[in-house]
Amino acid sequence: MKSFLSIQDCSSEELKELLALSRDLKALYKNGKRDICLSGKVLAMLFEKASLRTRVSFQVAMVDLGGTAIYLKPEDIGIIGKREPAKDMARVFARYVDCIMVRTFSHETILELDQWSHEPIINALSDWSHPCQGMADILTIREHCGDLTGLKLAYIGDGNNVARSLAFACAKFNMQFVCASPTGYELDAETLDAANKTLPNCASQTHDPVEAVTAAQIVYTDTWTSMGQEEEKAKRVAEFAGFSVDEALMEKAPKDAKVMHCLPAYRGCEISDGVMESENSIVFDQAENRLHFQRALLKYLIAK
Ligand code: CP
Ligand code: NVA
Repeated sequence: MKSFLSIQDCSSEELKELLALSRDLKALYKNGKRDICLSGKVLAMLFEKASLRTRVSFQVAMVDLGGTAIYLKPEDIGIIGKREPAKDMARVFARYVDCIMVRTFSHETILELDQWSHEPIINALSDWSHPCQGMADILTIREHCGDLTGLKLAYIGDGNNVARSLAFACAKFNMQFVCASPTGYELDAETLDAANKTLPNCASQTHDPVEAVTAAQIVYTDTWTSMGQEEEKAKRVAEFAGFSVDEALMEKAPKDAKVMHCLPAYRGCEISDGVMESENSIVFDQAENRLHFQRALLKYLIAK
């Protein structure tokens, strides 16, 4: 595995290894020990969009492993390919650093950087997917629910980048995935087909949030308006009415169903304040696990 671009591109074995390494390194660091396997190594972090969790957790992970991280904010790099072609940027970066983490609008930009860089590329969110989030979520579900096989994850809301990575992740880890969205905001058929090819009949789409949360061990949601869609916000808020993960919807889920959100959350829209702060909510464990998964990912890709 040279790069980490999409969960779908990885084999189940590679993902299981990454999960096991995340758990081992998490235990090591919780015990106050360190693994400085990336001493002298440098990570470049390129952001076309804003970030709190991704930026800070990658930087901390790199420092934890003995390395250094360079943060290039949206104002520094602009849209990749605008000042100079992505293929030129990739070859320049690869001569300075040991790994390049990228958050972009277009997923094609990440693929192009990977094609031209001889060093690993990590997808830190594109309009198409968010694989680091998906894997941190699997780690979190494993910790809270135990064996992953057969668990049902109900994703309520926009069929977006986060939903797509979760569909792929569920298929790879033998889980059931259902996406409940308003008409026009469904997860695309290609994504569902790919997940179902990995694990037959594991992924489906509905327009009924109640049907989705029935018998679900995990209820997941994300913003209705992703970065780059800000102009559509009013229209989306109107069209997603009835798709909030609120107390009324959670009444229809099993009593102990876990609530997940990749954050940032918009209380009163995709999630209510009460559900976000409820005992069922594991959103901050999820946020923490970004660090634990990414520490493992960096070690896996760089410390060969
Ligand atoms: N969940 C997530 O990726 O958060 P940030 O956008 O703050 O990095
Ligand atoms: N779907 C959201 C996720 C943010 C972490 C977005 O792309 O803005």
